Amino acid sequence: MADVVMVTGTGRSYALGYNIVLRYLEAGDTVIATIRKPSADIDALKAKYGDRLIDATMDILDTGSVNAAAKEVAGKVDHIDTLINNAVGVAPDVDKGFFEADPDNIPRVLDLISVGMLRVVKAFYPLLIKAPGTALIMNISSEAGSIEKCYRTTGMDYGMGKAALNMATMYLYNTFKDERKVNIFAVHPGWIRTNGKEDNPAPLSSYEAAGILKDLFALRREDFTGHRFITNENEDYPF
Ligand SMILES: NC(=O)c1ccc[n+]([C@@H]2O[C@H](COP(=O)([O-])OP(=O)(O)OC[C@H]3O[C@@H](n4cnc5c(N)ncnc54)[C@H](OP(=O)(O)O)[C@@H]3O)[C@@H](O)[C@H]2O)c1
Repeated sequence: MADVVMVTGTGRSYALGYNIVLRYLEAGDTVIATIRKPSADIDALKAKYGDRLIDATMDILDTGSVNAAAKEVAGKVDHIDTLINNAVGVAPDVDKGFFEADPDNIPRVLDLISVGMLRVVKAFYPLLIKAPGTALIMNISSEAGSIEKCYRTTGMDYGMGKAALNMATMYLYNTFKDERKVNIFAVHPGWIRTNGKEDNPAPLSSYEAAGILKDLFALRREDFTGHRFITNENEDYPF
């Protein structure tokens, strides 16, 4: 049966969110693609897939914007089966180390990556619990968010953001698990050429990565017992 899937941060055709949207559209599902600003790439997909693609404008840093998008979406679908929190952003000095980077850039990134997900889940929860089966939330995290495996000295904003996203995922898992109506994971999506550049050494294209993730999400929907931080290869990853 066709599902209703929502993906955040989908406006760039070379990046991951757009390609997850594309994979679900190709499979016959209805997709809510959220964007921060108008996207010619999403407009082109809409022209091809019509009503099965619902675009919604939403800035996940802004609770009012997220709540308004949820209201708009609730007028178009009666439930959501799968929510994929993919949107991300980094500090302008993400490539710098502790002595060069400005710590005051970090709070906005933490807000975007971790609190942004909480805003989205809170606003869309009423649609998730109306899913006919188990609703699934997949938070696109990163191995860079693992505290145990941390080896980097740059990108502290991003690593802290993803570590906080992982912690928030656990809190929501604990909150939802007894009812077994909404399941949730944090997922490292693999190393992906999300900037679309030919010289990017990452092994996976965004389209390939999106296909792998779609299959993984189907496998894990009913798993309420396993570790909550997993990789695109369906393996547990240390928090
Ligand atoms: N590439 C990799 O190898 C890799 C590895 C591990 C994890 N990941 C994760 O995979 C996911 C996708 O990565 P990506 O490189 O494809 O992402 P991206 O293109 O850099 O960002 C995704 C989207 O997030 C949107 N966004 C930024 N700020 C927002 C806000 N305030 N509200 C709403 N949307 C906002 C952006 O919108 P605009 O287009 O309007 O800027 C963008 O389209 C991310 O979560 C990333 O951390 C990637």
